[in-house]
Amino acid sequence: MGFSIVQRDTTKRSVFFIYLVIFSFLSVANTTENPLTAYDLKVEYLENPSAIDVEHPRFSWKVRGEGRNRVQSAYQIVVATTREKLAAGDWDVWDTGKAVTNQTNQIEYNGALLESKAEYHWKVRVWDEGDIRSEWSVPAKWSMGVLHFSDWEGLFIGLDVGQFEGNKYDSLYLPPARYLRKSFSVDKKVKRATAYTTALGVYEFRLNGAKVGDYYLLPGWTDYNKRVYYQSFDVTDMITTGENVVGAVVADGWYSGYIGYALLVRLDKVRGFYGENPSFMGQIVIEYEDGSEEVIASNKSWKASQGGIREADILMGETYDATQQNEGWDAPGFEDSLWMSPKVYTYPNGRLQAYPGELIEERERLTPLSVKEPKPGTYVFDLGKNIAGIAELKVRGQKGTKVKIKYGEILNSDGTVLTENLRMARATDTYILSGQGEELWQPKFTYHGFQYVQVTGYPGEPDADAITGIALSSIATDASTFKSSNGMNNQLYSNILTTQSANFFEVPTDCPQRDERLGWTGDAQTYCRSASYNADVSAFFTKFLVDLDDAQRWYGAYPNFAPFPYSRPDQYAPAWMDAGVIIPWNMYKVYGDTRIVERMYPGMKKFMDFQADASTDYLRPGGGNNWGDWLAVDEQTSHDFIGSSYYGYDAKLMAEMAEAIGENEDAVSYMNLFNNIKKAFAKKYILENGYTTEDTQTSYALALYFGLYPHDLAQKGADRLAEKVINNGNKFSTGFLGTKHVMLALAQYGYADLCFKLFQQTEYPSWGYSVVNGSTSIWERWNSYTKNPDENSSLNAAMNSFSHYAFGSVAEWMFIHGLGIDTNDEGFRNIIIKPAISKEMGSMVGSYESINGLIESGWEMKGNRLTLNVTVPANTRAEVYIPTSKIASIKEGKTKLNKHEGLKILEVIEDEAVVEIGSGKYSFSCTWKQ
Ligand code: BGC
Repeated sequence: MGFSIVQRDTTKRSVFFIYLVIFSFLSVANTTENPLTAYDLKVEYLENPSAIDVEHPRFSWKVRGEGRNRVQSAYQIVVATTREKLAAGDWDVWDTGKAVTNQTNQIEYNGALLESKAEYHWKVRVWDEGDIRSEWSVPAKWSMGVLHFSDWEGLFIGLDVGQFEGNKYDSLYLPPARYLRKSFSVDKKVKRATAYTTALGVYEFRLNGAKVGDYYLLPGWTDYNKRVYYQSFDVTDMITTGENVVGAVVADGWYSGYIGYALLVRLDKVRGFYGENPSFMGQIVIEYEDGSEEVIASNKSWKASQGGIREADILMGETYDATQQNEGWDAPGFEDSLWMSPKVYTYPNGRLQAYPGELIEERERLTPLSVKEPKPGTYVFDLGKNIAGIAELKVRGQKGTKVKIKYGEILNSDGTVLTENLRMARATDTYILSGQGEELWQPKFTYHGFQYVQVTGYPGEPDADAITGIALSSIATDASTFKSSNGMNNQLYSNILTTQSANFFEVPTDCPQRDERLGWTGDAQTYCRSASYNADVSAFFTKFLVDLDDAQRWYGAYPNFAPFPYSRPDQYAPAWMDAGVIIPWNMYKVYGDTRIVERMYPGMKKFMDFQADASTDYLRPGGGNNWGDWLAVDEQTSHDFIGSSYYGYDAKLMAEMAEAIGENEDAVSYMNLFNNIKKAFAKKYILENGYTTEDTQTSYALALYFGLYPHDLAQKGADRLAEKVINNGNKFSTGFLGTKHVMLALAQYGYADLCFKLFQQTEYPSWGYSVVNGSTSIWERWNSYTKNPDENSSLNAAMNSFSHYAFGSVAEWMFIHGLGIDTNDEGFRNIIIKPAISKEMGSMVGSYESINGLIESGWEMKGNRLTLNVTVPANTRAEVYIPTSKIASIKEGKTKLNKHEGLKILEVIEDEAVVEIGSGKYSFSCTWKQ
């Protein structure tokens, strides 16, 4: 039996002791008769993951408990090899015993050596502040992946379908998908059957006529020369006695299909960046009741052919000819004697690893709001919002009828879909009918960004249910809620969620519709904190940071996008490359994740060296590609200013991260570097009156937010920023980089009211402008579209995405300042509730499902009475900022604050009272200046 005692750090223990003392002081509603409950168990951020190949996986859970001031004082994790053993108390893998700590996440497994492909079952129980023990949690499980290369028996197999010989710029090469099958027989009782599958390309895995798993575009996008992820599926229940058939369909995908703007700008290569021919590899490991094992692995003995899918490309779309489909090809009883032997491809150089992120899944089904016929035989379905995904077609008609499906985000004035902004992405699916009854079809290996679906060639007049929109995404945007007294802002929030969902698609893409869909790093760094409020992005960014690390240039810069399949001179850019430092820091802040910091640390150091090398007297020039404050309006901030300010910010974040992982010397030297950059920066860019030499909104915002202002000039800089915004009619002049930082800097320096004015602005340029012009998503440009037809002709049609999350980075301000939900430490154990209450807005209410559970904040003003409702999850504490120094006017519930025994007033400063609370629900009210 593997047994080990959890090591406890004594400094942490004393801090924890103080924590408990504080809580016993606060504790009035301690409900020992209501023990805590541990729930939401995860391993490596995933629920019951099916393949983990991390040697020491990390556990997490949340705790809940009635009443206030509830704290976990200890936990016990137990792990067993079977569910039965776990239930029977035979914890043959790991038993932490009673570990005295309030930690509930980032807990490293430290038991017996975990075995390749094995399944483990675990549960946890916790003790509360009164040392009362909870029930065991609902059991959870995880499986280890294929840990040893020698365990792989499958070969990469495909089918030679010829090759393209035309001019790569003049015509598309869209080869058919390859179909692979293998019949095998099972005549013993199966105990467990697990499939491990992957592809160079994209694949769908099938067993006995059904798709295995609910995911799309597997195995995901990586730099396949460095790593190829595999998936694992429990297929025990799908195996039958007698003949079984395993099948795989494989197509080009990111591996060998068209990627990004390569065709548009005529790069040397336009497709096939990692290889020319897709192939599948997999094996089903069948464990029989009698203890024997059998492996059905992809190899020469499989059969290969073509089938219904005639074309399949992520950017270009899919063509399915149902007259060519091999009915029943993936089920027993199919005659495959005409099928060929597969072609065997060599193993990739990249290592085979378990997928660490979240796979693309169906997230929503949309039925059309309307169907119109702008031209005879051309039908346009409006799905009501701009998503990424596919459309499902329902049709009945004659064999050979060809239905064409085009996708678009907006309509031309004649009512047909506008496709100019898709540039070289053909984004067209075609379905050729078999003629057999009702046919239901959805493409497998493509996706589109769209609100409108335009169908031609449909036999007869389609009903509204001829098309169903299927929104696909890697993430569920269900971690936040937001509602304010301004309906426009509520629509803006909904647009932010829609656009995040559409673009958190394997990698954080810039947009889902045109010939780009790349993991642009500038967009990702500016939005990553916003993203973390709307969804649990821990696993998603764990995966993307590997992509980013893999894509780091040999000389130290992080690239413009990751994965980075191109080889071009313009490989990096200020504020884009900085994603390599900014995203890990945010993951550390939001999830308390130091492992991700350790993983990225050597690369981040190399990046800092690259910057030091490029700098003169601590100032990093623009360098690389120069997009500046991309899509700024009227004002341009110099690239050198942007370069140096981000360099300073990186140094500051590096100092913090170095300290977090115990690299203390580095922490000191990065702090020194930050101070030196700050001095040099101030000398070059900040004038004695507090103005920057650039005098642009973005220049103030970056310098203030990154902490580069000399202390005595910072307020003057903020005043000037505010003045510039006001002189501009309470509007921005900023682009991707400046916008959110204007909000954050103004909020920090006492300009809450102005933030609310910007937030609620509806004139161009503003968020409201897109909402009043009918947007259902966040646009790439402040003025991507207007309802006024006279102004539309001047818009940039080709470079105009209607699904670009970058400007949605206002979500960071909405949650940190609008609702006031932030973390005081890392990982939301010590929470700050500090809403920037303003007479400019009547109310705001919202929530955030943090790694420790649900945090709620809602404020409302009625006359001069302010109510602030707060919920803080068990095992956390919060500092609540109430905007008045008149303690006597503050009540919590019905009790005056100064008579309240369960709360602690920490500080009363100028116009603010800071109150410390433990978990629970609170309702504060006070008289507030109007
Ligand atoms: C993308 C952006 C990206 C930019 C770089 C664009 O084409 O859509 O979102 O950051 O290029 O300036």
